Amino acid sequence: MLEDYRRRTPKSRELFERAQRVFAGGVNHNLRTFGLTTVGAYPPFMCRGEGSSLFDVDGNRYIDWWMTHFSQVLGHGHTAVTGAVAQQVSLGTHFGTLNEAQVLLAEELQRAVPFMEKMRFCTTGSEATMYAARLARLFTERPLVAKARGGWHGGNDTLGYHLKFPFSDDPFYNGVSFDFNDTDSVDALMERHGNELAAVIVEPVLGAGGGIPPGPGFLQYLREETERVGALLIFDEIITGFRFCYGSAGTGVFGVQPDLVTLGKIVAGGMPLGVYGGREDVMSLAAPGAKGGRWVGGGTFSGHPLSMVAGLETLAALKTRRDDYETLNKRGDHFRRRLNAVFEELGAPALSTGTGSIVFIAWLEHPLDPDTPLTATRLGSAVDHARLDEFQARLIEKGVFGYHGLGAMSFAHSDEDLEQTLGAVESVTVEMTGR
Ligand SMILES: Cc1ncc(COP(=O)(O)O)c(C=O)c1O
Repeated sequence: MLEDYRRRTPKSRELFERAQRVFAGGVNHNLRTFGLTTVGAYPPFMCRGEGSSLFDVDGNRYIDWWMTHFSQVLGHGHTAVTGAVAQQVSLGTHFGTLNEAQVLLAEELQRAVPFMEKMRFCTTGSEATMYAARLARLFTERPLVAKARGGWHGGNDTLGYHLKFPFSDDPFYNGVSFDFNDTDSVDALMERHGNELAAVIVEPVLGAGGGIPPGPGFLQYLREETERVGALLIFDEIITGFRFCYGSAGTGVFGVQPDLVTLGKIVAGGMPLGVYGGREDVMSLAAPGAKGGRWVGGGTFSGHPLSMVAGLETLAALKTRRDDYETLNKRGDHFRRRLNAVFEELGAPALSTGTGSIVFIAWLEHPLDPDTPLTATRLGSAVDHARLDEFQARLIEKGVFGYHGLGAMSFAHSDEDLEQTLGAVESVTVEMTGR
């Protein structure tokens, strides 16, 4: 398998051999093997990005759907963003102090997400969700933060449990959870732990768990139930923020306002950034000297000038395109329907899931009843991981680069990119099903 890929990527092969000698598993993020090591191959080493394309060190071009972990909604190498970063670099990189761009970026974020009465910047999304959870515990003086099964909130110890089906307990990282889109499981959580809950943290659209949209009223139910038991509601919008509209998907698309929100990815256009913010009475506990001296915040690289200027230019560009989000969402919905039509026509046990421009593909061990709402447990229990990895690897060989089956569409993806992607999905599906 992948003979063609191996022939075209000698430099990547050599680099991956070296990477395996220095990095555990050869990678610096567990997803970055992209399914290729499962089939005995190696991931391509990328060296340049432009619009919807990535180029590897052997000179091969790929249509990119991974888009820097879904950060690049404008496409790679947006000139306003790279220009601002280059100009900032000429002044120095980071001084570990306040800088003007921090204030400008926070002001724009506040205009776009007005319920963020106060916010803080950190360097990654993992820190943002960790600090949001810590603030909730400080504010409520309660111990537990519940998450949705299958929700990924980064690599921090606080929320690193119940990530993948069968969501079994881990002796070191453990906590309470519920099933996204399943109000019975929320009821069970509230009944058992309601008075110990500091917060519920949830993505408005369950990202890594399958790009699953919330069922009608589900987020509102979480809002009401958290209020009833005196817990905070935290929306982790590190994927959904500025992906489905200019601002928060929670309020802007689904009409539900949390107490705290976390942002990252898109808001710094490919540079490192985490944001946590929301109610002033909660956020004020992060201020120096606040209640009990518990530390919230920190980070040598927080508010890094390069991330700040990249964020400012990204938001400026997105603001001028705010009316185009509707088209992007519709394009994604339409593309998923076309993918599913291909799978149906070829009788392939595969399903494209997602919401708007989030376009994932899962290969399944058994079919899913289309009339029962999707949850991470229903989807996770059906996924055939070995075939999904094979599908992913074969797509990469055909020049379509992604993860979670495919990934995220950006404003830079052209109609031709979509047709080529569909063609590649079709030929890989034929290869895998023999039809
Ligand atoms: C919803 C969500 N929250 C948090 C994180 C963690 O962000 P980071 O990788 O910047 O630490 C991610 C990253 O994929 C994410 O998707």
